[in-house]
Amino acid sequence: MNYRHAFHAGNFGDCMKHALLVALLRALLRKPAPLFVLDTHAGAGHYDLTAEPAQRTNEAADGIFRLLHDVPPALDDYMTAVRGLGLYPGSPALTRSLLREDDRQACCEAHPEDYAALRGLFRHDRQVSVHQRDAWQALKALLPPSQKRGLVLIDPPYEDPREFSRAASGLTLAHARFPTGVLAAWYPVKHRAPVRAFFDALSLRDVITAELLLREPLDPSRLNGCGLAIVNPPYRFEREAQVILDALLERLGDREPGEAALVMRLADE
Ligand SMILES: C[S@@+](CC[C@H](N)C(=O)[O-])C[C@H]1O[C@@H](n2cnc3c(N)ncnc32)[C@H](O)[C@@H]1O
Repeated sequence: MNYRHAFHAGNFGDCMKHALLVALLRALLRKPAPLFVLDTHAGAGHYDLTAEPAQRTNEAADGIFRLLHDVPPALDDYMTAVRGLGLYPGSPALTRSLLREDDRQACCEAHPEDYAALRGLFRHDRQVSVHQRDAWQALKALLPPSQKRGLVLIDPPYEDPREFSRAASGLTLAHARFPTGVLAAWYPVKHRAPVRAFFDALSLRDVITAELLLREPLDPSRLNGCGLAIVNPPYRFEREAQVILDALLERLGDREPGEAALVMRLADE
């Protein structure tokens, strides 16, 4: 396991994932029934963007640091959460900040150091369970939850090209075990072929994808864009996702050819 999220925290992919995560959680929180949130690839929980790993790559300069000033209304909720949390929040800290007292959160992380950090972050928190276990196994072990409503976030590092097919199988398994849950999987867009194969492998109904492309995905050595595939999206989420992506593109894009903010519905079946 080479991937460490501390080197990438705050990049544009993180901003897209987290802005949509906040909106998905807000939609679920509109109803009073308790929620269960499973974060299968949780990372360290939060990150110091002034520390060496983040400074070395400086990826946050083209991500979260571009969003700090003159926050557009579509990103206000997300940025208020980020600002309120001290250290830059990863998906676990961001999720936790929105939960009510009857909601529950489970986080899985395989890397020993990131797991230790995550465990430390939530050690006094009865609402959050932290597991050092394989994400794909966790989908079997931790689903279905006793709560009828909730969200599963699948956020693999994609260092191994097989992660696309694992993400498709993971969504399918999560849907079989938790059919009422909102299920979201982040994916990189370096070039189109693996993304098309990922969509083809998703034979689920009611799936949308939200993509932020910074440029035409022609050079497979670069992260040209990223997306979130969402199974069972909340009512009218497509419109909301489009507004969020448009605001992100306005700040994070450099007007390169092919940049786009796209919300699409995958054909049912
Ligand atoms: C992209 S990062 C997660 C970032 C986090 N979701 C966030 O938004 O703040 C992916 C994480 O998955 C972990 N990981 C990789 N393979 C895993 C597996 N099979 N099971 C559990 N965790 C895994 C990595 O150690 C890494 O911390």
